[in-house]
Amino acid sequence: MKEHTEEHNVKEQLDANTRSQIKNFGKILNDNNDFLLVSHHDADGVASCAIIIDLLKFLGKNYEFKILRQLDSAIIKTISAESKSKCKSVIFTDMGSGQIELISENFSDKKIFIIDHHLPQQEYLKTEIEIKTENLKIEHVNPHIFGIDGAFEVSGSGMCYFVARELGRKNLVDIAIVGAVGDMQDSSGKLIGVNREILKDGIKEGVIKFKKDIRLFGRESRPLPYMLAYATDPFIPNISGSENSAADFLLSLGIKPRNDDGWVNYVDLKFEERQKLISALYVRFLNVSPYAAKSLVGEVYTLLKEKKRTLLRDAKEFATLLNSCGRQKMPEIGIHICLGDRDEMFKNALSVLEAHRLMIRRGIEYLKINGLKESKKFYYFDAKGAIDENVVGIIAGMSYSSLNLNRDKFIVGLADDSEDSTMKKVSARANLDIVKKGVNLGDLMREGCWIVGGEGGGHSIAAGARIPKEGVGKFLEILGGVEI
Ligand code: C5P
Ligand code: C5P
Ligand code: ZN
Repeated sequence: MKEHTEEHNVKEQLDANTRSQIKNFGKILNDNNDFLLVSHHDADGVASCAIIIDLLKFLGKNYEFKILRQLDSAIIKTISAESKSKCKSVIFTDMGSGQIELISENFSDKKIFIIDHHLPQQEYLKTEIEIKTENLKIEHVNPHIFGIDGAFEVSGSGMCYFVARELGRKNLVDIAIVGAVGDMQDSSGKLIGVNREILKDGIKEGVIKFKKDIRLFGRESRPLPYMLAYATDPFIPNISGSENSAADFLLSLGIKPRNDDGWVNYVDLKFEERQKLISALYVRFLNVSPYAAKSLVGEVYTLLKEKKRTLLRDAKEFATLLNSCGRQKMPEIGIHICLGDRDEMFKNALSVLEAHRLMIRRGIEYLKINGLKESKKFYYFDAKGAIDENVVGIIAGMSYSSLNLNRDKFIVGLADDSEDSTMKKVSARANLDIVKKGVNLGDLMREGCWIVGGEGGGHSIAAGARIPKEGVGKFLEILGGVEI
């Protein structure tokens, strides 16, 4: 497979061979029953899980599901023991490709399926979905084996959608777009690669539309002053954090935050008002963070089944909601929402979202007060117990814009492991520019872990690990050796 950094022909459509291999995978899946579905706790993982649950229901299969913060040797052993008599088949979604050996050692009595987009080990990159290990055969769908870069061109939920589509189920095509946006695969300004094939399907099904517009959280659902005052990605200079400053800023542009019907949301604005607001924000960002200015406008994805002016209508807002459910340890709420629950579960999700966004704002404040350390190649911080390990990656990623960091370096965030006081959670984030120059955080995390006795991996642009506390110094030293 070609790296994103090399000349790489980005396909916007799966070729016939890939489709036929995915179809075959689907057939084998349909020949099995009594599934345990195991997925990742972020937006893409929750979306992946929902797409496969919907498919299994459609196929009339029995299933249970489990959402995990990560897949490591200890967790794999636990699931294997727990599932001994409970299920015959296990499907890993949005995880698993990096742990093929561990899975094969621990699940010899099960039929195993993996639908993932993380880079597999080199030996599993050949273009075949069936892997024969010493212990068992694994059915493995992963974009990298088809020459598609899973960090940018398709998400875990996108791959789940492709499997479901081959079995005649396109029901949750919009949720696959939510998963891709949740994994920030639109960070260049729009979704690329075979994500666009999913987008085309969504448009054909009449459930999605897209256009170029402002990309702040809350453009659909939040009153304008709140959208501006509570913006975290990016922070708006001299506005974020203050509803009054946000309201004054709007009034200075001649935009009224309220009208006779109540609060005005961004989507209520007329075209000229939107233009005026975007230009004024652009100018504000330009002196402070030209990158934030550039990324202010891009493609936005609207879910047409959802009511106007509600949170779920915008893919970015929907993804943030799923991320908050998963990372705040209530993933089942997110799954029910993907499957259509708009009553009790949706109400619960709204309070989870508020708690999550507050946790993120506090995390960023913590970094603003305590600062980051800076080495030649990267920034790093150890928040210890001050930032929850489940959100340290989100905060690390946001610090480029919120702390206006130099984009020539990547960011490494550490936090205490909440379940094991001898371990640290590591989350690393890079950006497109340095990935193009050759930074691959997934490889770095894997190699660093191998030396200090931890477990980790991920994508070139975003990766994570769990390492022994005493190995932190050595681990950072290894990361420092990276060439940029
Ligand atoms: O496990 P998974 O692939 O779903 O996790 C992806 C994580 O990496 C997300 O938290 C997302 O924010 C980050 N990511 C990113 N940019 C990409 C791909 C992933 O920031 N292009
Ligand atoms: O946990 P975090 O959001 O920082 O994860 C970033 C990416 O690294 C995700 O794609 C996740 O699946 C991956 N990761 C991993 N192994 C870990 C931790 C994270 O592969 N131990
Ligand atoms: Zn993913």
